[in-house]
Amino acid sequence: MSDKAPPSAPTTAPAPAPTETPAPAPAPAELVSAGASAPSATSGILEPEPANEGQSLVVFGIGRETVSGSDQRHGPERLGCSDFADEYPNAEVIGTDISPIQPSWIPPNLRFEIDDATLPWTFGSNVFDYIHMRYLFGSISDWQALFDQAYAACKPDGWVESFEMSSVARSDDDSVKEGSALETWSEAFVQGGKKFGRSFTIVDEDVQQKCMEKSGFTDIAVKDIKCPIGPWAREKKYKEMGMYSRAALEADIEGYVLMMFSTVFGWEKEQIQAYIALLRRQIRDPNVHCYYRMRISNMVYPPSLVLK
Ligand SMILES: C[S@@+](CC[C@H](N)C(=O)[O-])C[C@H]1O[C@@H](n2cnc3c(N)ncnc32)[C@H](O)[C@@H]1O
Repeated sequence: MSDKAPPSAPTTAPAPAPTETPAPAPAPAELVSAGASAPSATSGILEPEPANEGQSLVVFGIGRETVSGSDQRHGPERLGCSDFADEYPNAEVIGTDISPIQPSWIPPNLRFEIDDATLPWTFGSNVFDYIHMRYLFGSISDWQALFDQAYAACKPDGWVESFEMSSVARSDDDSVKEGSALETWSEAFVQGGKKFGRSFTIVDEDVQQKCMEKSGFTDIAVKDIKCPIGPWAREKKYKEMGMYSRAALEADIEGYVLMMFSTVFGWEKEQIQAYIALLRRQIRDPNVHCYYRMRISNMVYPPSLVLK
């Protein structure tokens, strides 16, 4: 995919989105692979085991509001640093981000710090019970160094969780066509990641597990999720995910595309605007059954975690 010539930009705006009855959609499957018998780190810590509620945890999240969960108790909703800190008042929670975008009203046991996770960490060794990072694809040039730092900062028996997604738009029924706006999107991010030295294909290249293993973590559990774009899937949970993911994509589409497409393909603003109109049309088309791959990898610092 990445060695192809840049696609030519559309020159005219597309026709309105189709209104025909959608073709039957396949239901995306969740698959659990390699060593998946271990519970998710999030659920392991967030489950309200009475014995754990008074436990003092030191929790570190990279990226704003980054302690998150799609665990049995909270369902698919996002759980931020503030929610985590509220729910576990005995936990000391630290959230970092490279940008000053943190909320000002936060629980007393949470603190935010402006910090670049790619620089040497200053927290010391063996300090955190749980380290969480999410959606850092496209931001990190050396993932091995990041996981090595997480390994050093994690306490023995502690957990690290990494949640990433792929920028490659896929379909299981070939409804994402070759040369389509969605395929061009994937191509732009694959090439852009190479150009900037910060990959958007972390999930596709199994970067999380490879680096975790190399860092020395054990009991690596992997959960793969297909996240539909748009409400095309049969199952209610995926339909809902699709509605949210499409709304998020539509809200941010210009921000994603403007810089990437002008840098990678050298397109002019007018070409990009025409392309965005095409892309919007495709992600609203009920016959296009597009999804992104997401992967949650948990790893445990040996020996395996026993919450006391
Ligand atoms: C796509 S957002 C994800 C936000 C949040 N983690 C979540 O899951 O909703 C990526 C975040 O990572 C932050 N970020 C990017 N590079 C970083 C770095 N080197 N160190 C710390 N944070 C970084 C960005 O500022 C941004 O807030």
